[in-house]
Amino acid sequence: MTIPATMTAIDPAGPGGPEVLQLVTRPVPAPGPGEVLVKVAAAGVNRPDVLQRLGLYPMPPGAPTIPGLEIAGTVAAVGDGVERWRPGDAVCALVAGGGYAEYCTAPAGQCLPVPAGMAMTDAAGLPETWFTVWSNVVDRGHARAGETMLVHGGTSGIGVTAIQLAQVLGMTVIVTAGSAAKCAAALGLGADHAIDYRCEDFAARVAEITGGRGVDLVLDMVGGDYLPRNLACLADDGRHVSIAFQRGPRADLDLVAVMRKRLTLTGSMLRPRPVAFKAAIAETLEGAIWPEFESGRLRAVTDKVFALADAADAHRRMEAGDHVGKIVLAVG
Ligand SMILES: NC(=O)c1ccc[n+]([C@@H]2O[C@H](COP(=O)([O-])OP(=O)(O)OC[C@H]3O[C@@H](n4cnc5c(N)ncnc54)[C@H](OP(=O)(O)O)[C@@H]3O)[C@@H](O)[C@H]2O)c1
Repeated sequence: MTIPATMTAIDPAGPGGPEVLQLVTRPVPAPGPGEVLVKVAAAGVNRPDVLQRLGLYPMPPGAPTIPGLEIAGTVAAVGDGVERWRPGDAVCALVAGGGYAEYCTAPAGQCLPVPAGMAMTDAAGLPETWFTVWSNVVDRGHARAGETMLVHGGTSGIGVTAIQLAQVLGMTVIVTAGSAAKCAAALGLGADHAIDYRCEDFAARVAEITGGRGVDLVLDMVGGDYLPRNLACLADDGRHVSIAFQRGPRADLDLVAVMRKRLTLTGSMLRPRPVAFKAAIAETLEGAIWPEFESGRLRAVTDKVFALADAADAHRRMEAGDHVGKIVLAVG
């Protein structure tokens, strides 16, 4: 495979609206030790990309300014010490940035094979949400078979992944979403219950659905005034896992509820975690989840595919909030 010196990419000069996402020419990056260079076929779009475009996302030191946290494509070259991957391998990868481009480097441990039979545009949308949801629901939230989980943003990229993980783990999953159509979509994807939070009080509905017991786990991307309501939804020994705060980072915490129900509050941010941490999740996902895609029990939930040149429209679609599942850029 001949690797050119330059490539087409999206690399905004500064923060702004979707219109800053213009095609530019950049040098093709070289894979360092332990990294692979991927010829990108497709890149997933995630809410953190929108926040980064707006200048509201703290970039980890050394991360590429080119946006894009996940890719699928073909290995074009490998750096020193890479044993598992060879040029020509089809991989999808979690990256710390750089995905909106024709070539992108990725730590070898953060690559997974493209599940057999899956299109690159579907595989590109798997890593960011699967790494995040597994890490927060299983490792931090200690989810177990037979438990019940409440997930806000049930049709988001994160939400549809949480529904699928709940199915694999044997959990009951209740989601919230902002319209009847999105609730119907979540039920179609396997949610056991869907609450339209714009016309129903989600805490009252959770109490009704669980017979007053509450849920074992809340996966929360809303924060702010949702916190007290989420805590009201939790059963004894319940866990509250924060992954975002779309209604604000500050909240009222009722310590009596925490003590009386013995609650655990935790949360995490995937992007700044070290490569070894992410590589361990990749290994777990390859064993526990990738076979579910290959057997057909799980399928990628791709909302819409845009050309790289139309990245601005992809961001507009995400900001409009009508999508169900993953928005993806076709690159190669
Ligand atoms: N901590 C981490 O490591 C990590 C990693 C990846 C993503 N995230 C975060 O996870 C969230 C989802 O990411 P994504 O890429 O899946 O984004 P996405 O598809 O755009 O989903 C965002 C969801 O948030 C819901 N929402 C927005 N404002 C809301 C509000 N005020 N009240 C209730 N729900 C609201 C929307 O649902 P409705 O329109 O139905 O309300 C939408 O489904 C983002 O906030 C992102 O920053 C965190």
